[in-house]
Formats: sequence, structure tokens, C-alpha cells
Amino acid sequence: MRLSDEEQRMLDGVYGEMTRKNMKVLVTLGKIFGAERMIKINNVHTPGVSYRVTGDAGLNYVKEASQSVKFKIPATLNTIGIDYENWENVGFPAEFSNKQMELCECYKKMGAITTNTCTPYFVGSVPSFGEHIAWGESSAIVFANSVLGARTNREGGPTALAAAITGRVPEYGLHLDENRKGTHLIRVEKQPETDKDYAVLGYFAGLLVGQDIPVFEGIKSRPSIENLKALGAALASSGAAALFHMIGITPEASRKSDVVRSNVDAVMFGQDEHDRVCEKFYLTGAIDFVVLGCPHTSIIEIRDIAKMIAGKKIKTGLWVCASRQVKSLADTMGYSKMITDAGGEIICDTCPVLCATLTERKYQTVATNSGKMAHYAPGLWNMQPLLLDTSDCIKSAVSGEWRG
Ligand code: F3S
Repeated sequence: MRLSDEEQRMLDGVYGEMTRKNMKVLVTLGKIFGAERMIKINNVHTPGVSYRVTGDAGLNYVKEASQSVKFKIPATLNTIGIDYENWENVGFPAEFSNKQMELCECYKKMGAITTNTCTPYFVGSVPSFGEHIAWGESSAIVFANSVLGARTNREGGPTALAAAITGRVPEYGLHLDENRKGTHLIRVEKQPETDKDYAVLGYFAGLLVGQDIPVFEGIKSRPSIENLKALGAALASSGAAALFHMIGITPEASRKSDVVRSNVDAVMFGQDEHDRVCEKFYLTGAIDFVVLGCPHTSIIEIRDIAKMIAGKKIKTGLWVCASRQVKSLADTMGYSKMITDAGGEIICDTCPVLCATLTERKYQTVATNSGKMAHYAPGLWNMQPLLLDTSDCIKSAVSGEWRG
């Protein structure tokens, strides 16, 4: 692997032991994957920052790093384990919350921007088309690669940290043109309309492709950014895909021939395929909890939720998960008050998957418009999931049940 003089100095320890260690991580990774060189980058999104994920081992490592090193480039933080400014009211335990805050402070000391969100692209971190970046968080990775046309591999906490410290990533995988072609063609006959429909399509595709690259053909009306977010998050939950293409819609897929080889067989997505995914996430009866905002909502989604719920009272728990920055705008617009007046909570910085705990609340069923949340709810909190459109989620929150 060829290194520049600067990269070699980092590896030789000229900039200190922590920089040396982290450059070593990237060089080793590059050698494993056959990278010929490093790429200079200027954008990192750091996953693995919930104390629920890092535990004390991760906290101690980051604490040690923060004593001797600063990030070379801008790095945003992914979703953490608590609502940073409201953890006591939400009911997160003090010991966990204190450790989480200590972890965030260590990242901040190194230079991280504490966005605490899985949608950094809604709060100002928007890499350009073709830009090489180092992003973690499966839903954000797939959004960056597919919707923005930026280039990132699936970074974990340690490699994102190493990228932020060195400003480099090894050139392999999705940084290279030849690895960005579609491997599976999905002919979409059942047209998606709502976020739930896009989540269902993404979930179907993830089961089909695993960690490969699906290409969607035949979508007739242009999806919104929120639709694409929903699709990508579900795709990366049922499978481990980091990139999809949608012909005529996503930026690398102007023409089919740009993204799919001629010998790839097509698989059909029709009503039956749609219904099979929905059956997996279906129940009737009492609903205890409703979750919207996985991935964290845009301001448009919060506005829509606020309009749907205004003047009503809910019988279930309701979390609308958002970045603090989007919530701040929602506060200004009066949307937050419309949601909280109805009995809902706008939860910032965290989400049901990464938060400290939900066990105190004893929820057994959850309605959500998110394929990712529906996928993780049973294993994490033993909640039975129901996948619904946003408007039906609100209806089930108001009635406290779902009768179909
Ligand atoms: Fe984001 Fe948590 Fe969902 S990190 S994508 S809200 S699981």
C-alpha cells in the first residue's frame, strides 16, 4: 500500500501514539481489502456513540484518546443513549446518563460536532456527489451513498474514529467505481406511495440482496427525501446493503445501463411480495407505544405529524424522534406544542433502539412507520411490532388499538 509522506509520518508516530495507533488501524484494514492507497476525506459521521453500545471499554478508550488527540476534520456524532437535555423527565437512569454525557464530552473535546442524530444530512452535514467520506450508522450510510451519491464504506465506531483522527480512509469497496454497480434488479409493480410502502419495499430488497446492491426499476412517481430515507433504513435492517440505485431517480442511475450489468435477472415486487412483508409486522388489538422518526424526522415529517395529531388526545405512549436542531425549528413553528399537547413526546438525541432503557414502561406492542424499528423492536424490547402508515400510527395512538 502506497502512503504519502504525511501518512507515513502518522504511521511512524511523529504526531503521537494515538495518531500512530489509528493510522495503523486504517493501514491494516486497507491491506486486508487490497487498497492501494489512502484517500483524503473531510467528513466523518461517527457511530457507536451510545453508551449502551460502547460500555465502559469504549468509554475508556475514547477518554484516553481525548487526552492526547484532536480530530483533523469535521465529524458529526450519531444517535446516543439518552435525550441529553431531558433524560430525567424521559426516565433514563442517572448512572447510564452520566456515563453517556461523559462519552459525549470526550468526543466534543476531540472536536466532534455533537449532532447526536442518525440524519446528519438534515442538520447541515451534506456531502457532495462523488465526495469520499467515512460514515457509520447503517441508515445514514445507505442515504449518503444512494441519495447523495457520496462514497462511504460501512464504517464502525473504531474506523470512523480513526478516520476523524487521521483525515484518511483506505481506498477500497464503495470508494471505487467498479464496486458501485447493482447486483440485483427489482422490477417494482406495486407502486409505493407512503413512507411505510417505501419501508416495505426496502425490507423486501434487504432480504433479497443481503449486503449486495439492489437496483429499483419502474417507480413511476418521484419519491420524497423522506420516502428514500425510509426505504434505505429498512433495506439496511433486513439486509446489510450500503447502496441502492433507483433508475431515473438516484444520482448515479440516470440510465439502467449506468448501474446494472446486462446479465442480471429481474425479480418482481408486486402485491404479494408487499403483503408478505406486511404480514410479518402485523397485529390487531391493544397498542401501547407508537414510534415515529426512525431514522430521525425531517422538519416536514414533524409538521405532518403535528397537523395529524392537533386537537386530539392519545392513549398510547408516542415518541417522535428527532435531532435537537430539527426539534428547535419545530418549537419555533409550534409543531412541538401540537404534539405534546396531544400527549406525545419529542425525543431528541436518542431512539428506542439505542436508548438507555424502555423496560420501565412495560410496553408490549408498538406501532411504527419504520421498517427498521419494526425489525428491532421484538429482539430488543420484546415488543410485538405493527407497521403502519404515519396517519394510521396516529389513529392507533388516539384509539389505543388497531383493528385493521
Ligand atoms: Fe436512527 Fe435509531 Fe432508527 S439511530 S435509524 S432512530 S434505530
